[in-house]
Amino acid sequence: MTSLASWSEGINLWALLEICSLILKSISTSKFGKIIHCDDRNKLTTYKTLSTWNLDCKAEKKMRWDLVVISVVGLILSFAEISSGGLTSSYVRNDEASEDMPLDSDVFAVPPGYNAPQQVHITQGDYEGNSVIISWVTPDEPGSDEVLYWPDNSGLRIIAKSFHVRYKYYNYTSGYIHHCPIKNLEFDTKYNYVVGIGNTTRQFWFTTPPKSGPDVPYTFGLIGDLGQTYDSNRTLTHYERNPAKGQAVLYVGDLSYADHYPFHNNIRWDTWGRFTERNVAYQPWIWSAGNHEIDWAPEIGEPKPFKPFTHRYHTPYEASNSTSPLWYSIKRASAYVIVVSTYSALGTYTPQYFWIERELPKVDRNETPWLIVIMHGPMYNSYESHYMEGENMRVQYEKLFVQHNVDVVFSGHVHAYERSEPVSNIEYNITNKKCSPKIDQTAPVYITIGDGGNIEGLSINMTEPQPNYSAFREASFGHGILEIKNRTHAHWSWYRNQDGYFVNADSTWLSNRYHVSSEELSVSESCDEKASS
Ligand SMILES: [Fe+2]
Repeated sequence: MTSLASWSEGINLWALLEICSLILKSISTSKFGKIIHCDDRNKLTTYKTLSTWNLDCKAEKKMRWDLVVISVVGLILSFAEISSGGLTSSYVRNDEASEDMPLDSDVFAVPPGYNAPQQVHITQGDYEGNSVIISWVTPDEPGSDEVLYWPDNSGLRIIAKSFHVRYKYYNYTSGYIHHCPIKNLEFDTKYNYVVGIGNTTRQFWFTTPPKSGPDVPYTFGLIGDLGQTYDSNRTLTHYERNPAKGQAVLYVGDLSYADHYPFHNNIRWDTWGRFTERNVAYQPWIWSAGNHEIDWAPEIGEPKPFKPFTHRYHTPYEASNSTSPLWYSIKRASAYVIVVSTYSALGTYTPQYFWIERELPKVDRNETPWLIVIMHGPMYNSYESHYMEGENMRVQYEKLFVQHNVDVVFSGHVHAYERSEPVSNIEYNITNKKCSPKIDQTAPVYITIGDGGNIEGLSINMTEPQPNYSAFREASFGHGILEIKNRTHAHWSWYRNQDGYFVNADSTWLSNRYHVSSEELSVSESCDEKASS
């Protein structure tokens, strides 16, 4: 089968159908087609002699048989070519658009009590990992600007001060959005915290990560394009119930989808904040911004991009010397996470480009072996949805990612799942025709996980045939788990939402790109070689 696959390169199903159609055409214009068919002996009277009829019938039958053989072989070859890439899952979900949960859903419930803090969320607050930013919204008045926190099983009580911001968006005015950076925490320690002091108090907890080190195990959840539909609720529930127990979420953009509503109804930003609180109040979500965070609407007097997102979700960008909250980096346990903004200027000489160019060489792989990039738009995507949209990003940054041995690039945007082989396409320069990505064990694996379950529904249609660089793809909603075991190995799993359950539909071991063994390096090959081997 593999040799057939190799032979079939350059031949596709349509070309074979074309060949069959030409043969049929030639038959129809022959004397068989014009005068008689062998299965119609009554027309013998129109034929010259019985012997000539017999002769031509034999020839026609042979030609028919040849046609059958050609067609069958053609179909096999076409199938072989389709299969020469990775695996396209046979599992098919309903592609109907998902419906947002109604405003009076229990998951959006406003906590009881006057001016009670709501939409509580935390994220990493610094570069090293021993700081958090605690954020919440009070709807009626500013309320207390204090957070009370203490290490678990400790009599110590510490108060930290927050600041608050508000914003207007068209005819919407936000509540009082509090942000409280808490610094100099102990690593690997559980802390309790209380917000809303003086009004209605609410208590939560979080655990700081272990101090960075090369063999520190750590588990990340991966969620993207979540939205606030019934499917979104399933995805979040499945992540919470996953026994792998994600310790922090790498969020690959597109949060609330409030911009789906007239005038970008920002009430849907509030509902999303209340919906996700049940997880993000207890473990940090590391934010990257997607296109649904842009909220650029000059026609209603809102020309400033990212206004709701940047007011509501703060990031520790200054700690990594970034000049924008949309791109930054953090260290967390054995991982170094670089957040890239697909929807900010990214070309050569832009602030983001200069920052990334300086950031990548900084990473000490002996301290944080796992170099992870998260961004919204994928650089490798074989779905029809958003096809080639990430090409500018690929052209600009792939060389840097390969050069610095980025381990894995997580993206969203496409509402489906796809995992690539470790690939590099940096030889291509638009004139040398070397435009087939090559498998390279020192290059990143690209994973698209924009399958949280938002109101726009699934991206069902895939480009065919499946490209050789694409290892696995499936159009289902779900979430992912990245379990870093030590400096050399991490385990990746993707879980689809299936009839109320979560099912492990794709998993693989990832070997570290920097600490890759020489045996693994020796298996580097082009995707074409992989297809024919
Ligand atoms: Fe998107």
